[in-house]
Amino acid sequence: MSSAPTRQGLSVRSLAKHYGETAVFSNVSLDVAPGEFIAIVGESGVGKSTLLNCMAALDHWDDGTITHEGVELGALDGEQRAIWRRLKVGFVFQAFHVLPHLDVAQNIALPLMLQGKRDDARVARMLAAVGLAGTGERLPQQLSGGQLQRVAIARALVHRPALLLADEPTGNLDPATAAKVMELLTLQTREHGASLVLVTHSEAAAARADRVLHLRADGIAQG
Ligand SMILES: Nc1ncnc2c1ncn2[C@@H]1O[C@H](COP(=O)(O)OP(=O)(O)OP(=O)(O)O)[C@@H](O)[C@H]1O
Ligand SMILES: [Mg+2]
Repeated sequence: MSSAPTRQGLSVRSLAKHYGETAVFSNVSLDVAPGEFIAIVGESGVGKSTLLNCMAALDHWDDGTITHEGVELGALDGEQRAIWRRLKVGFVFQAFHVLPHLDVAQNIALPLMLQGKRDDARVARMLAAVGLAGTGERLPQQLSGGQLQRVAIARALVHRPALLLADEPTGNLDPATAAKVMELLTLQTREHGASLVLVTHSEAAAARADRVLHLRADGIAQG
């Protein structure tokens, strides 16, 4: 068997991260093929959000490599990382990070605008797909927590990213809305070939994944 990293999809090899003297995780290796959906589970504080931030090249790591579509993220400088993220990544943050001074539609349109591709019809379709039709002109402060989470999900999907990273995307949603959101995320994976990495405490969400990986301080393991 070849040990060469996969050219397609996402490949993490022997990743280690610490804050000061404190190790968060070490020896994390995993592959996510295009069209594949993996779930990452693990106790609170074990480093799941930190790992996702590394996968998006939003955070630095101390050892190991992350490769996406043959591009080694550690070799990119800050500007190259930003351009890579803009083109390739959809990220649903645990804390949403919706921009407060933009209305809902403008927040969702942001990834398209950053690529110079305005598409109001697609933004409207995304709004409807997450059950927020008619709220495009509202400001984030006029939405509930679950509605904000759905804005964040629409924003992560609107530019059809090849790498979809979602941190507890259904944490604030009722079971029926959560199921709808999981349908949307898996659609981007199954029909558009995205690699999906989902961090979740939800068994229902993890049950949809091709593989469930368990993050621990000393590595990551199947099941
Ligand atoms: N900027 C930082 N400086 C120092 N320590 C940090 C920093 N950010 C996170 N940590 C620590 O790193 C560890 C991993 O945090 P992280 O947010 O990745 O956990 P998590 O697995 O996502 O937890 P949860 O399930 O609660 O979201 C925690 O112990 C946290 O306190
Ligand atoms: Mg977290």
